Amino acid sequence: MTSAALTHASATGVAIDVERDHDLFARENLLDAAMGASRFRKTSERLRAGRIPALALVARDDLGRLVGTVRLWHVDAGGWPALLLGPLAVAADRRCDGIGARLMGAAIARAKAAGHGAVLLVGDAPYYARFGFSRDAAKNLQMPGPVELDRFLGLELREGALARARGRLRPTGERAQGRSHAAPGSRRMRKAA
Ligand SMILES: CC(C)(COP(=O)(O)OP(=O)(O)OC[C@H]1O[C@@H](n2cnc3c(N)ncnc32)[C@H](O)[C@@H]1OP(=O)(O)O)[C@@H](O)C(=O)NCCC(=O)NCCS
Repeated sequence: MTSAALTHASATGVAIDVERDHDLFARENLLDAAMGASRFRKTSERLRAGRIPALALVARDDLGRLVGTVRLWHVDAGGWPALLLGPLAVAADRRCDGIGARLMGAAIARAKAAGHGAVLLVGDAPYYARFGFSRDAAKNLQMPGPVELDRFLGLELREGALARARGRLRPTGERAQGRSHAAPGSRRMRKAA
C-alpha cells in the first residue's frame, strides 16, 4: 500500500501517514512531553530497544506539525508471532479530538491487512477496550519484566491467534544496529541493514 493510500483526510484537518526519517526529532519531543524520561524505563522498552518497528504511523495537522504517533513491534508471544503496540501519544493541545482513535484504527487496519494475527500492549484498559483490547486475550502471556497485570492487554486480529499462546514475550524485530528509534524502511535503516 502506498503512503498516499494510507493518508486519510479528516474533519479535524489531521492526516495519518507513515513515519518518515525527518519525523524523528518532533516525535521524540512529543513523547518526552507526553511521558517524560520514564518512558525508557518501561518494561515494554525491553521489547523495543535496538529493534526496527514493524509499523510506525504519525498524525500531522494541516500545517504539517506532528501531533500524534504510534508504533508496533514484532514479538514472539509464547511461540506465536504478534505485534506489541506502543507508545501511542497525542500532542497535549490536540487531545480528545479523535486523533488517538484514528491512529489506533489505522494501526489495527494496517496490521490486519499485513496478515498479523494479534496485537498486545500495556496501557489503560478503559481507553483501549474501545478498540477491542481485553485482559482476557493476554491472560496466558507475560511481559519480560514488571507490569500492572490489568494493563497488559491483547487483541486477536484473527480468531484464535492467541488461543494457544503461553509464556513470556520476546523481541523478534529486525535489529536496528545502534539506531533504536529509526522508522521502518528509513534511509538510515536500509543503509545499516
Ligand atoms: C491516551 C491518548 C493517546 C489519547 O489520545 P486522544 O487523541 O486524546 O484520544 P481520543 O480523542 O481518540 O479519545 C478521547 C477519549 O479517550 C478518553 N481517554 C483518553 N485517555 C484515556 C485514558 N488514559 N484512559 C481512559 N480514557 C482515556 C478521553 O477521556 C476521551 O473520552 P470521550 O471519548 O468519552 O470524550 C492521549 O491522551 C495521550 O497522548 N496521553 C499521554 C500519553 C499516554 O498516556 N499514552 C497512552 C499510554 S496508556
